[in-house]
Amino acid sequence: MRHILIIGIGAGNPEHVTIQAINALNKADVLFIPTKGAKKTELAEVRREICARYVTRSESHTVEFSVPVRQTEGRSYSGSVDDWHGSIAAIYEALLLTDLAEGQTGAFLVWGDPMLYDSTIRIVERVKARGRVAFDFEVVPGITSLQALCASHRIPLNLVGKPVEITTGRRLVESFPDKSETAVVMLDGEQAFEKIDDPDAIIYWGAYLGTPDEIVISGRLADVKEEILKVRAEARQRIGWIMDIYLLRKGADFDD
Ligand SMILES: C[S@@+](CC[C@H](N)C(=O)[O-])C[C@H]1O[C@@H](n2cnc3c(N)ncnc32)[C@H](O)[C@@H]1O
Repeated sequence: MRHILIIGIGAGNPEHVTIQAINALNKADVLFIPTKGAKKTELAEVRREICARYVTRSESHTVEFSVPVRQTEGRSYSGSVDDWHGSIAAIYEALLLTDLAEGQTGAFLVWGDPMLYDSTIRIVERVKARGRVAFDFEVVPGITSLQALCASHRIPLNLVGKPVEITTGRRLVESFPDKSETAVVMLDGEQAFEKIDDPDAIIYWGAYLGTPDEIVISGRLADVKEEILKVRAEARQRIGWIMDIYLLRKGADFDD
C-alpha cells in the first residue's frame, strides 16, 4: 500500500512550517510540487525552498507537476470546479502510479492549511474512489493565510463571544454587514469590498503575507478603499500576480 501525506506548509514564509510538517516531509520518499504557470513561479519556489531548507533525508526526491487552469467557458461555477478537480485527480493518479512505488510515501505540499479553501483532500479522496491505486493518507496542519493576516495586523479574529464568517469575494454581499459582524474574504478576484457601503465597516487587508512583498493596510473601509484598490493594482502589475485576503468588521467587543 502506498501512503500519502498532505502537508500544510504555511502561507508563504518558510518559517511557518511546523516541526510536525518538517518531520512529515522527512518521512516522504517523493515530494510532489505543483507549478501554476510562469506568473506564479514564486509559489513553487517557496515549496522548493522549504524542501531545500528542511528535508534532510537524502533518499527522497521531488517531482514537479503542472496544475491545469480551471476552464470556465460554458460551465456553471460548480460544474467548472468539478471538471477541474476531475482533471487534477487524473494527474494525481498518474503521479501515484508512475512516481511512487508500492510501500512508498508521497507528500503533497499544500499552501497554508489543507482544510481551508484548498481541494487537495477532496481530490485525493476522489483518486481513492476511482479505485485504480490503493493508498491511505494523513493530513498535517499548517499556518493559514487567515492566521498570517491577523498576526500581521495584530488583531484577534473574532469579537468577544461572536461568530466569524469565512467567505469568498463572490458571496460577500450575502453576508456582510447584515448577517456577519466579522467576515473574512478569500479568493476575491473582483475586490468585492468595493461594493460594501457601510460607514462603520473596518477593513484589515493583506497581500503576499509572509513573503518579502507583504503589504498590509487597515482602517475605516470608506477611508482606505481607494488606497487598497490603487496599491493592489500597482502590486499586481509589478509582480505579475496577487494573493490577498481581508477581514471586514463592524461593531466592537462588548457592544451588545
Ligand atoms: C486556494 S486559497 C488557499 C488558502 C490556503 N489553504 C490557506 O490556508 O490560507 C488561496 C487564497 O488564500 C489567500 N492567501 C493564501 N496565501 C496568502 C498570502 N500569503 N497572502 C494573502 N492571501 C493569501 C488568498 O485569499 C488566496 O486567494
